Amino acid sequence: MTVVVAPTEKLYQVPPRLLNGKGLPKPHVSSFEQYKEMWEESVNQPDKFFGNLARELLTWSKPFETVQSGSLTEGDVAWFLEGELNVSVNCIDRHAIATPDKIAIIHEGDEPENVRNITYRELLQEVSRLSNVLKSLDVRKGDNVAIYMPMVPEAVYAMLACARLGAVHSVVFAGFSSDSLRDRINDAGARVVLTADEGRRGGKNIATKRIVDEALKDTPTVEHVLMLRRTGSDVPFTAGRDLWWHEEMAKARPYCAPTNVNSEDPLFLLYTSGSTGTPKGVLHTTGGYLLGAAASVKYIFDYHPGDIHACMADVGWITGHTYIVYGPLALGATTVLFESTPTYPDPSRFWDLVAKHKVTQFYTAPTAIRALRRLGDKWVDKCDLSSLRVIGSVGEPINPEAWEWYNEKVGKGQCAVVDTYWQTETGSIIVTPLPGAMATKPGSATFPFFGIKPIILDPTTGVELLGNDVTGVLAISQAWPSMARTVYNNHHRYLDTYLHPYKGTYFTGDGATRDKDGYIFIRGRVDDVINVSGHRLSTAEIESALILHHSVAEAAVVGGQDDLTGQCIHAFACLKPNIEDSDGLDKELSLQVRKVIGPFATPKRIYVVNDLPKTRSGKIMRRILRKIVNGEQDSLGDISTLADPSIVAHLIEAVHGKK
Ligand code: WTA
Repeated sequence: MTVVVAPTEKLYQVPPRLLNGKGLPKPHVSSFEQYKEMWEESVNQPDKFFGNLARELLTWSKPFETVQSGSLTEGDVAWFLEGELNVSVNCIDRHAIATPDKIAIIHEGDEPENVRNITYRELLQEVSRLSNVLKSLDVRKGDNVAIYMPMVPEAVYAMLACARLGAVHSVVFAGFSSDSLRDRINDAGARVVLTADEGRRGGKNIATKRIVDEALKDTPTVEHVLMLRRTGSDVPFTAGRDLWWHEEMAKARPYCAPTNVNSEDPLFLLYTSGSTGTPKGVLHTTGGYLLGAAASVKYIFDYHPGDIHACMADVGWITGHTYIVYGPLALGATTVLFESTPTYPDPSRFWDLVAKHKVTQFYTAPTAIRALRRLGDKWVDKCDLSSLRVIGSVGEPINPEAWEWYNEKVGKGQCAVVDTYWQTETGSIIVTPLPGAMATKPGSATFPFFGIKPIILDPTTGVELLGNDVTGVLAISQAWPSMARTVYNNHHRYLDTYLHPYKGTYFTGDGATRDKDGYIFIRGRVDDVINVSGHRLSTAEIESALILHHSVAEAAVVGGQDDLTGQCIHAFACLKPNIEDSDGLDKELSLQVRKVIGPFATPKRIYVVNDLPKTRSGKIMRRILRKIVNGEQDSLGDISTLADPSIVAHLIEAVHGKK
């Protein structure tokens, strides 16, 4: 387990400006006592709490009668059982009727001067048109649709158009390689793929359609590709299969009646890496997920009408799903969609964006905060950030130095800093401060959100560690509305990964400490998942990618600590007999990983070694590799169980050089 953040004694009170600043809205929850009372009700009387919340925040075409059923023990959790609704109606129609001219999406393009505002009226028309196009391609309720797109409004239309028809989207992050895209399309059996000619990011073009074409060489289910013209570059076009987005849209009617679905019908699949095997298609359903998204934007980002909500994630990850698209739009907010990078054209980009659009809620990842902090204060100091009230962090543990910088330099000590902990599988944030209610400690995600009952377990015995000042693995002891319901086509795997490790609970895979004051500190993954810049990668997946290279016999991948990216990938490869290490082989192996997974999975270091540390029964002892790459070779512990303890010296030499 990587201990990234150690509990700290520092406590920051809620800035008085948030509670009674002139002209600012009063926070929805404005004291710890109020939070405590609401949280108690949410976990002790979930039917009452979530029944009320679901009626308050969502519009149902048919009301539910039963708030919840099933259990974590059985793995048959369901919420708002008889209820019917349509997500796009909740995210668009009701606001298009009440406030048609309100801006739903601010698209900040790759070039800062390329800003597109889309009103709720326009959003309804665009999503309707696209729904009709999808219908013409025979997409119906329950069908899976793959989306592989850059960060443009059309990517959001694509998700919402699927939701309008009751079709299930599977957004694949456009940084994934063609192999990864192919596997995800095949696992979901998608018939239609939505994409673009090219993407634009940081001033560069990205060959989106070429990657799709490569992937589609081996995807028997795909019948159609709908391609957006984003850059206008010349790209391959397969007649009969490929269709131009603008041509199809021009033919379509700008209204499409929504298909109401049951609360437990699937809304989307999102593939994520686990400790073993191929990526899992995490399946989220409709009512519970949308409620989690809306409730967390309301309470955790303290959303009030008129706010401008800016989440810097990509829609290809869960953070983009919940905090760019579904949460903000369900509340009728204005959401910012950001196509570029934090440093393009210069490291003021985020802060210029905040100043330009008068952003009130800003949400990013610790990696970005650390990188910008390194580049110096001048980039942030010159921007007017006074519109901000809540600044959030997500994706990995945030180290106290980065937290303090974010608080002082970006928040000016006047904003709530919310370190929000959650996962693809949890659907929405589960441990977090509430802006008006919690004093915060740098590095702590603080307290559970409504409906979440976290427990800390002894990893070996599974016994719950009660009271404060305890460290163990983090589990959740009762079901909540937005939790994933299954792994697509593999319910067994869902049970084995999340519900069976510690019977009757949901196992997060993360280690955690509850300090003496009850504050929760997330300490990182306890399984073979590596978190690089907030991107989740499985060591097993990277190892399989390396083994596909013709010269590799065996590989072992471990996470190292990295000041900038949190963790980084260290890969050890043993070559096949008769194959010699050669100049450039490490580059080739690195390329291999990029090709199979994607550029964000590039190993930081690759070591070609003669042997890996194994037990006598042949099991690779990654613990030893982990210690070596993290400079802890002096505390390797017992290595006598190794089949050949002498290889340790060679490994140390490979990583750290000759003494
Ligand atoms: C990690 C991203 C510490 C954690 C929303 C989790 C965090 C994994 C935090 C999920 C946080 C996320 N503090 N660690 N605030 N937020 N993590 O599925 O290890 O991409 O299990 O979801 O990120 O990553 P995923």
